[in-house]
Amino acid sequence: MKHFLDIHTTTPGDLRAMIDQGRAMKEARAGRPKGAPDDEQPLAGHMVALIFEKPSTRTRVSFDVGVRQMGGQTMVLSGQDMQLGHGETIADTARVLSRYVDLIMIRTFDESVLQEMAEYASVPVINGLTDRTHPCQIMADVLTFEEHRGPIKGKNVVWMGDGNNVFASFLHAAQQFDFNLTFCGPQQLDPDREFVDMAREAGVNFTIQRDPWKGVENADLVVADTWVSMHDAQSSRERRHNLLRAYQVNDRLMEAAGKDALFMHCLPAHREEEVTSSVMDGPQSVIFDEAENRLHAQKAVMRWCLDK
Ligand code: CP
Ligand code: NVA
Repeated sequence: MKHFLDIHTTTPGDLRAMIDQGRAMKEARAGRPKGAPDDEQPLAGHMVALIFEKPSTRTRVSFDVGVRQMGGQTMVLSGQDMQLGHGETIADTARVLSRYVDLIMIRTFDESVLQEMAEYASVPVINGLTDRTHPCQIMADVLTFEEHRGPIKGKNVVWMGDGNNVFASFLHAAQQFDFNLTFCGPQQLDPDREFVDMAREAGVNFTIQRDPWKGVENADLVVADTWVSMHDAQSSRERRHNLLRAYQVNDRLMEAAGKDALFMHCLPAHREEEVTSSVMDGPQSVIFDEAENRLHAQKAVMRWCLDK
């Protein structure tokens, strides 16, 4: 069973093949209406369940459109509306859904839900974000970087802010795609020790830097994310803002990074908080390419899962 649960549990060769296929599929349908089918219809006759236990714009729409472009059909399910939200076990849900659909994508809270779904499903399961990781996002980010700047191998990626789920997947990707990664944020919001230890053991060129100005020196890519993630308590908002204010990505910081450095953000962004509008809408920003590339990268991920 080819589940897509994490970047570090998928081989570098498979990840590379998915990035290249996503890019080729994007190029092949350039200029067509969004609803036009791809020439190839690898998902014809296939049904895909998209389960959301948290809100989503990009993940929901990009998976739905991607399946349809490849000839398949989707059903978008809210965890709360399913029996899943009312006490049915994940294992039983996985077994039942596997009788109806060919592929399951799930966005959930605890990583253990994703793991249990994958363990008991007899169809592939894709991680659409958990409290700990967001691998589909990083596939789109690698695709986006390479479209603009060529191979990411050996490049300097600098993360600004909270050591959260999206950062964890960047750390996994640094290992698999062989780029250098700097975490720039306050010690109180460092990434989990487990992720850092795994990266260090794998020989990833990973640096922790508290000073944002030093952090962006020689950056090829600067990345930011929200200061309060969906899994964070709203009561932590003020504390987080106070800790993270010094790490806002603004014009001065992007200037210090150098004019060739790109800016990315998985979105949704909070303008004038983790990043200024001037950076989001400025010449170094590729945030909307990045959002679009969720579609192309995930189409390749789904094809890989289904051997199509
Ligand atoms: N970046 C991302 O996953 O966006 P959504 O929460 O809108 O899906
Ligand atoms: N870190 C953010 C990412 C949203 C796509 C969150 O988990 O809310």
